[in-house]
Amino acid sequence: MAPQKKLHRITIANVKKTINGSDNDTVLHTALMAGIDFPYACASGNCGSCICRLDSGKVSLLPRGDASLLPEQIKAGQTLACRARPRGDVTVTWLGRGRK
Ligand code: FES
Repeated sequence: MAPQKKLHRITIANVKKTINGSDNDTVLHTALMAGIDFPYACASGNCGSCICRLDSGKVSLLPRGDASLLPEQIKAGQTLACRARPRGDVTVTWLGRGRK
């Protein structure tokens, strides 16, 4: 039997939308699947385009390029939407502009 996915509420403050996201899926992928135009480029943790502020909640980070999210950025409450999986209800504000 496959492990049960937990659903969490993910709020994207920039567009004032709250969506359901699995703890097995990234914030970026969940937002894009919901039709939210979240800024990104590589979607693999290497460019920093999806940088966002974690306003509330906790995430776990998948492996990423060292330069894409510096330790001081993590300390400042920033994260990468393409690498962040929710560990509960979260609210994020994107800070980057992606490919636009
Ligand atoms: S989209 Fe490149 S680091 Fe997230």
